[in-house]
Amino acid sequence: MSAGAFSRAVVVGAGTMGSGIAQVFAAAGIDVTVCDVAVAQHERALAGIQRSLDRLVQRGTLAAEARDATLGRVSFATDVGSAEGADVLVEAIVEQVEAKQALFRAASRVAPEETILASNTSSISITTLAAAATRPERVVGMHFFNPVPVMSLVEVVRGHLTDNDTVGRTVALAERLGKSPVVVNDFPGFVSNRILLPMLNEAFFALMEGVAEKEAIDRVMKLGMNHPMGPLELADFIGLDVCLDIMEVLHRDLGDDKYRPCPLLRRLVAAGRLGRKTGAGVYEYGQ
Ligand code: CAA
Repeated sequence: MSAGAFSRAVVVGAGTMGSGIAQVFAAAGIDVTVCDVAVAQHERALAGIQRSLDRLVQRGTLAAEARDATLGRVSFATDVGSAEGADVLVEAIVEQVEAKQALFRAASRVAPEETILASNTSSISITTLAAAATRPERVVGMHFFNPVPVMSLVEVVRGHLTDNDTVGRTVALAERLGKSPVVVNDFPGFVSNRILLPMLNEAFFALMEGVAEKEAIDRVMKLGMNHPMGPLELADFIGLDVCLDIMEVLHRDLGDDKYRPCPLLRRLVAAGRLGRKTGAGVYEYGQ
């Protein structure tokens, strides 16, 4: 099957990442079903995709007809049975091994043999997820970055049993989505979060130790390193709970104390200050 043969996709999980992923599939001319048990999420996801496409129309980078055609390719379902007949399934559900494994087990039962089963996980081992599938050679990581319509990288993660055909088709698919795929092996945090998260964690240590105020830490990295966001601002954007989870995975699975999560990061998560999504993290965002 060539990348051009991708005509139907299923994205499981209608959160920020799932709806962004669905948007780029639909924009590339691929019919996409967004599957989420929570029906309330369907409306939120559709509104998010609409807002994102409207933004592109306003900026003059997308024609109104193309926006409507893209929206017309997005449908919703509550059951993973929708994977029947899909060329690719991308899961973007909660970052819990058991939940993701259950999904891959169920998807293996309904999806055709050739279907690529991809995970957007930011830190869970692809090899571990593949162990639940009947065809582990078809399981691969397809790690997108937020905001998905804007960020060009897709980290294609090769699990221990992922075959070359699956990797090749996933790379071609990411290119068809207009993204730049980079193939990496299945190690904790892959490449992106192995390097990004320790940097963010270090910014929390710098803040905790009083090296500088939060705004100063962010300004140094923005102006001195040309990062679009400072590390503390970016941590709020990603979600402090997600950052802590990834640090825990790096610390546990690499077994090196250089990955220990900063106590300040732990404290903010314990206080429910999870970043932009809760209205407060390192910074305050109001309603
Ligand atoms: N949908 C569509 N377009 C969007 C968009 C969205 N949701 N959000 C922003 N854009 C577009 C805008 O339309 C604009 O396009 P033009 O340049 O064509 O006009 C462009 O993106 C820039 O947007 P803004 O001017 O509104 O805002 P900005 O310049 O401040 O950029 C940002 C916003 C793109 C988020 C930028 O701050 C940035 O790149 N931040 C870093 C993001 C990052 O590092 N993401 C990765 C996080 S890690 C992750 O996701 C994975 C993980 O495993 C943890």
